[in-house]
Amino acid sequence: MHAVTEPRETLLAALKAALPDGILLSAENDIERYTHDWSGDHFGTPLAVVRPRSVDEVSLIMRCCSANNIPVVPQGGLTGLVGAAVAAPGGGEVVISLERLNKLRSISAIDFAMVVEAGCVLEEAKRHAEAEDCILPITFGAQGSCRVGGNVATNAGGFNVLRYGMTRDLVLGLEVVLADGRVWNGLKLLRKDNRGYDLKQLFIGSEGTLGIVTAVSLKLFPKPTQVETALVGLGSVEDAMALYARARRECSDLLTAFELILRGGIDIALGARPGLRDPLSEVCPVYVLIEASAGGRVDLRAILQDFLMSADDLIIDGVVAASRAQGDQLWLLRELMVEAQGRGGRYLRTDVSVPISMLAGFVEDTLSALLKSHPHALAVTYGHVGDGNIHLNVVPPVGMDADEIATLFHETEDVIFDIVDRYGGSLSAEHGIGRVKQEAFLKRIDEVSLDLAGRIKDAIDPKDIMSRGRIFLPRSYILEAGER
Ligand code: LAC
Ligand code: ZN
Repeated sequence: MHAVTEPRETLLAALKAALPDGILLSAENDIERYTHDWSGDHFGTPLAVVRPRSVDEVSLIMRCCSANNIPVVPQGGLTGLVGAAVAAPGGGEVVISLERLNKLRSISAIDFAMVVEAGCVLEEAKRHAEAEDCILPITFGAQGSCRVGGNVATNAGGFNVLRYGMTRDLVLGLEVVLADGRVWNGLKLLRKDNRGYDLKQLFIGSEGTLGIVTAVSLKLFPKPTQVETALVGLGSVEDAMALYARARRECSDLLTAFELILRGGIDIALGARPGLRDPLSEVCPVYVLIEASAGGRVDLRAILQDFLMSADDLIIDGVVAASRAQGDQLWLLRELMVEAQGRGGRYLRTDVSVPISMLAGFVEDTLSALLKSHPHALAVTYGHVGDGNIHLNVVPPVGMDADEIATLFHETEDVIFDIVDRYGGSLSAEHGIGRVKQEAFLKRIDEVSLDLAGRIKDAIDPKDIMSRGRIFLPRSYILEAGER
């Protein structure tokens, strides 16, 4: 049942003959930066890298790859962290980098919508929106590197989900190049459209397994004229979640972020930037970074301050940023902690979710289970708890060798995911499955879901050339197993 695999040179020659000059890279030096992701943990060796300049060129590439059974992997900013967009280790895949498809096609403050090409860096797309006095609310640390097409392909989350939703909630339409090279034009500006299946939903979060997103129509929102940031210290995660429940109601539902950081994370951030002062006068076990945003005639500072005063039964200590610069300093702690948490080495990343009402119990259970099973490892805990989403990461002790680290990651991931299961949660709330979470995902997926998902994949990518082996096992593997 295998497609015959031609030698590398033959496939490269076929690509060269079919594609216009200036878009194919195959020399080792030229393709180096497309071979590994932002973390450096995931890398692969592509057959070649192509950098199309137009949708027509993406279509041509797919027609050629489909005709020659060459597997492809679309690539954005390489910040997804689950090994979905780096080439497979085998060396047979063509990386399709969308970086040159980066134009703003249209923007309208009246429609509160923009159409932007997939390769546009998120931060740049956000700047286009701000130039129209609007915001594109997708916000997270990697926004200076990630690209909008990748945000769609992974259904990116981030800090502002609790107010504006995941990327999925912000997509009005898509343009997608299919495995056979056809272009599906689903770019719409419509807020309401109930004609049959909502096909764009298939591609959002599909991690490149169903098609290549080339352009996106996105919802925008009025740019808030007031943004207030506070950092508060509390005694427990339970208190933090009690604060959240009150904050949504008492701050007129104007929260845009509610980020939990356990004290260990603050220590990591402070250690990363000598000279940085402890943000509060008291050292607390748990911190929450709160942001609220509003436009129009509300006194947001008063709303937030009054609320925090009223919650003095929960809050041990806190600060409301007096200026934007001070607000940025508070967010810097969050950013530095993420960058420094691995001490420059590998660490286990998770991005799990449970119902908001159960988050405190989940964190408590998981941290005590990890302490019991792996007392020498360091658990770093932070996350978007307003969405029930927490990053529970595990940093190996200094001096551990690579094999021991692999075992540690496997065992601690099992500990965490088993508790996630008990709480009815998700083992991937934000970053997706890729290759990194595949085993754990497939171990748990129910038969009906797997069957439906497999039929969709078969129908849209019958040759299994789109991001093969991400989310699902490669088709050839399944067929072989079936034949045995
Ligand atoms: C964050 C990314 C890593 O929350 O998901 O910082
Ligand atoms: Zn996150």
